[in-house]
Amino acid sequence: MEAKKRIEELTNIINQANYEYYTLSNPTLTDQEFDKYIRELENLENEYPEYASPNSPTKRVGGEVIDKFKKIRHRIPMLSLPDVFNEEEIRAFDERIRKSGFHPEYVCELKIDGLSGSFHYEEGNLITGATRGDGVVGEDITHNVKTIRTIPLSLKDKIDIEVRGEIFMGRETLAVLNKEREEKKLPLLQNCRNAAAGSIRQLDSKIAAERKLDTWIYHLPNPEDYGIKTHYEALKFMEQLGFKVNPNNRLVKNIDEILKFIEEYQEKRPYLSYDIDGVVIKVNDLEMQSELGYTAKHPRWAIAYKFPAEEVLTKLTDIIFTVGRTGRITPNAVLEPVIVMGSTIKRATLHNEDYVIEKDLKIGDIVSIRKAGDVIPEVVEAKKERRVGKELEFQMIQNCPICGSILEKKVGQVDHYCMNHLCPARHIEGLIHFCERKAMNIDGLGEKIMEDFFNLGFIKSIPDIYHLETHKKDLQELEGYGKKSIENLLNAIEESKKNSLERLLFGLGIEGIGDKTALVLAKKYKTLDALALQSEEELRKMKDIGSILAKNIHDFFEHVDNIALINNLKDLGMNMNYLGPEEKYNENISGKRFVVTGTISFMSREEIEATIENYGGNASGSVSSKTNVVIVGEKPGSKVDKAKELGIEIWDEAKWSTIYNSLNDNPKQE
Ligand code: IVH
Repeated sequence: MEAKKRIEELTNIINQANYEYYTLSNPTLTDQEFDKYIRELENLENEYPEYASPNSPTKRVGGEVIDKFKKIRHRIPMLSLPDVFNEEEIRAFDERIRKSGFHPEYVCELKIDGLSGSFHYEEGNLITGATRGDGVVGEDITHNVKTIRTIPLSLKDKIDIEVRGEIFMGRETLAVLNKEREEKKLPLLQNCRNAAAGSIRQLDSKIAAERKLDTWIYHLPNPEDYGIKTHYEALKFMEQLGFKVNPNNRLVKNIDEILKFIEEYQEKRPYLSYDIDGVVIKVNDLEMQSELGYTAKHPRWAIAYKFPAEEVLTKLTDIIFTVGRTGRITPNAVLEPVIVMGSTIKRATLHNEDYVIEKDLKIGDIVSIRKAGDVIPEVVEAKKERRVGKELEFQMIQNCPICGSILEKKVGQVDHYCMNHLCPARHIEGLIHFCERKAMNIDGLGEKIMEDFFNLGFIKSIPDIYHLETHKKDLQELEGYGKKSIENLLNAIEESKKNSLERLLFGLGIEGIGDKTALVLAKKYKTLDALALQSEEELRKMKDIGSILAKNIHDFFEHVDNIALINNLKDLGMNMNYLGPEEKYNENISGKRFVVTGTISFMSREEIEATIENYGGNASGSVSSKTNVVIVGEKPGSKVDKAKELGIEIWDEAKWSTIYNSLNDNPKQE
């Protein structure tokens, strides 16, 4: 009993010291005192493992190793914000809100350049930490989150709560880490965001712990549960619970104050200890936020102003050509390495011959390079006044740089193509595409490894991927490939056979079929065989398929090599059926446009909207002549008046309740 009590006591002392040191930057213990308490706690936990908590502060140093990331479905989707790039767009945002009849106050926050995370607590204890993922399903990173010192392992109040914020790496931490890596001859981490993202995706939490990640918390998904009325209050509330909330957040009254905040932080940006890439502007009043609502991707009550892209000068030392999986030839700028927005740029795409001619680029030119956030770097222009007369004219090639065959330019298109189906470059690009995340999603078979395996002769075709198992021993002996990593790779390959049809369909690389079209086709035809049997006319009838796509799909399934490939994959046990959810049908909902306003007692607005979308309806935030139904709960906004004015059908809570209760799993009738 004594031990249990002392463990609790030590946990509290250490958690408090951690909070004071890391979150408040106000240490109260010396390092020696802190270490002494940690050692005492570790010893007690070893002696009495039955009293050791999974959330013990001794876990901060890591040690937990997982074999793969579990998926976590977010109870409320994690949305991103619409980007705006200038004053005009900020004014338009404000005007749109005012037009809806509001007089908003805003909260301006720094847009932290890291990755967003969600942190769940039950009875005050940290239960899970998750990445954003695709916004609906993220990855379970709890083991690594426990190593982030500014994330409390237990809260001052023993409540259930989810908070969200940015996980990031400070600039100084990155500098120290890169210095160590340089000494060990390891590749350097390019910027704070990449470093944070890479660190949080470690299976071994010891590595994440060494990376010294940090957080700024900025979002409370369920403020109503705590009686909170404004976003600013929510920030204060989270701060009081022990989270690290950015002290630069500012409540502002009007657009001028927003612009002042932006200007101020554009100037302060270089002196901050962490990277920011803009300013987030949020409507402060939560009722107003909920009235404004959401689009499928974004809230309508917030925007992210992105700082202008940084431009730097460098030398264009060469233009080289690459061959894509469709045979398309791309000219690429080879640049004298230069750092833009924290990452080193050595290459930039020049798209096609016309693009280079239009920009009048010559080899040897001094060019300006621009990069904004995630955007691929681009060559803005050649500095013609810096020319010395020795620059070389750009010459488009006439033969494929890999196989030498004559290039063709299709009528009416700007691109040149290598038409040789057996060209190794096309081939390898196709194989990389097959494995990529949105296709078969084979973790561990990225560009670099595929190139290695291709060059070593292990993979020459798609079926070879599924025969890699027979080379297991050889692969495990390759330099740079551990036993475990090959084991994981082979498992991922085997798992990929179970993918739903749309992934295979996208992976096959039929020209013009992106992941979205692949999903539409998979949902409609359910099996690859059924799709293969469709005529061009039949395919063209689909909303998303034009005549070029219909022809591409049809031609693909006519080709003997492709039929052979499909049969081969079938023999290897590849699933060829659509496995995703059926689109549900309900005559009251499907195909109609809805607006939900006010509070329905038994469901949140997000849940109602999700139900509508699930049944093939559309949920939007504003009433227009296109709206079919407005669902009206308690305390509705001005939207009801507008609906009445336009003579739109109105459902009250009782009506929605009847329809909701009548829903079952009717498959879509056609
Ligand atoms: S609010 C619904 N606030 O920027 C609320 N996001 O596209 C959504 N970010 O995914 C987020 N700093 O990763 C918010 N102060 C801040 C932020 C912030 C950085 C990131 C976040 C989000 C992206 C916006």
